[in-house]
Amino acid sequence: MSHEAVPQPAIGRKSQGLSGTVAMPGDKSISHRAFMFGGLASGETRITGLLEGEDVLRTGEAMKVMGAYIEKHGDEWIIQGTGNGCLLEPVAALDFGNAGTGSRLTMGLVGTYDMETTFIGDPSLSSRPMARVLDPLREMGVQVLKASPGDRMPLTLRGPKHAAPISYRVPMASAQVKSAVLLAGLNTPGITTVIEPVMTRDHTEKMLQGFGADLEVETDKEGVRHIRIEGQGKLVGQVIAVPGDPSSAAFPLVAALIVPGSDITIENVLMNPTRTGLISTLLEMGASIELVNRRSAGGEDVADLRVRSSELKGMTVPAERAPSMIDEYPVLAVAAAFAQGETRMPGLEELRVKESDRLAAVAEGLKSNGVDCDEGEASLAVRGRPGGKGLGGGTVKTHLDHRIAMSFLVMGLAAEKPVTVDDANMIATSFPEFMGLMAGLGAKIETAV
Ligand code: S3P
Repeated sequence: MSHEAVPQPAIGRKSQGLSGTVAMPGDKSISHRAFMFGGLASGETRITGLLEGEDVLRTGEAMKVMGAYIEKHGDEWIIQGTGNGCLLEPVAALDFGNAGTGSRLTMGLVGTYDMETTFIGDPSLSSRPMARVLDPLREMGVQVLKASPGDRMPLTLRGPKHAAPISYRVPMASAQVKSAVLLAGLNTPGITTVIEPVMTRDHTEKMLQGFGADLEVETDKEGVRHIRIEGQGKLVGQVIAVPGDPSSAAFPLVAALIVPGSDITIENVLMNPTRTGLISTLLEMGASIELVNRRSAGGEDVADLRVRSSELKGMTVPAERAPSMIDEYPVLAVAAAFAQGETRMPGLEELRVKESDRLAAVAEGLKSNGVDCDEGEASLAVRGRPGGKGLGGGTVKTHLDHRIAMSFLVMGLAAEKPVTVDDANMIATSFPEFMGLMAGLGAKIETAV
């Protein structure tokens, strides 16, 4: 689907108690990395449970253009990788659509190759800052031949003959930046070190180790992580079962909490502690979420969640929890709109540079639906209205942001009046099953004509 397609508005309406069991599609972060590392490793990688969202498929296309063979047989994706250090120069620009993770990680992956690579994307991606990735790459000898003002896409990279290993302290809590530097280190002689003062999702480290990279992590007395990767080693194809995405599970989860009389089960949710901040927060707010059938799958903890509607209470979400729930603040803000009292969310500076300025988009969407809230520089405070009386009735600008669209459609399920979003097309970037899956639980969400 092209993101320049005609916008498709959608509406969420007050629904009866949600019920049923749904299985989560694959985790987006792990799916991107599975395509990338499988495309790079020697030999065969087989992936089941891959998220077939537009963002991930773009990463697959990019890897194909650079020499990987990727095919789907039944439920399985089968990849023959190029071998580490053996990517080919792409003949055309790599189009990443809406995908920040795909583009930023690939900049790291190819930046240190002695070749030219051009990155393009949709208007949302083209407005996002890339200096956070380009700055460390420049230190490694990568030239940015062309870029739009402020180091934005479209941009063209040219790698050096031999990249220089660096030691890089990540200045913001960003798994994408950490990962880009580590991936650049894969094609760099010697040891590249990433120093991560605030831990973010660790899928790159865990998966690279699984593929055989010489990567070690040491956490010092201050809790700062030192991640060292020895470049130019061999990566070997793996068998990967991608667990379900907790960031997608967040939508049916919050929907069931706020729609009275709901009782649902969400199966196959990744429980990696770098991703479970929303569940911890909702539990502290009084949510009824039971973790059942906890198990280990593909080196990650996974569980099913039984969720029943709950009377939520506002709280202050610790700022240091933000990295483990960074993509979940929009839907948490919706939950907060139905909670008793005030929910304060500090430490949200990174929300300003997501697929949209999410802090502004959420505040604006809440206000247009009658929610009392304050947007700070890097914080949000929401004063809830249990029962949702008087809420809804607004149209939300989604700014090409899938999570804004899904969050506000969920809001409409419990608000007194319907909530409209101006464009639901972008949902396909991360959660193409969203509409059908929610409808199956009894949610009244429909596209508007
Ligand atoms: C991601 C990291 C996070 C997150 C994004 C996925 C990843 O971005 O918001 O959806 O897979 O590494 P930042 O690195 O910008 O925090």
